Amino acid sequence: MYVCNCNGIRERDVRALAQTGKRHVADVFRCHGCTAKCGRCISDMQMVLKNEIKSSQLAAE
Ligand code: FES
Repeated sequence: MYVCNCNGIRERDVRALAQTGKRHVADVFRCHGCTAKCGRCISDMQMVLKNEIKSSQLAAE
């Protein structure tokens, strides 16, 4: 599923970046060599990052 339609960034891409230590939406755009355009994806992307980080922390406990 695409989380950012403007830049073609998928939810799984965001989760993968969270697993490599990326914590911010700006990191996601930077890693994809793009920037926010319409900005509608930012809150969803933050939620995906937050959930993935939380899942990783729970798995590590
Ligand atoms: S949907 Fe991500 S910048 Fe527009």
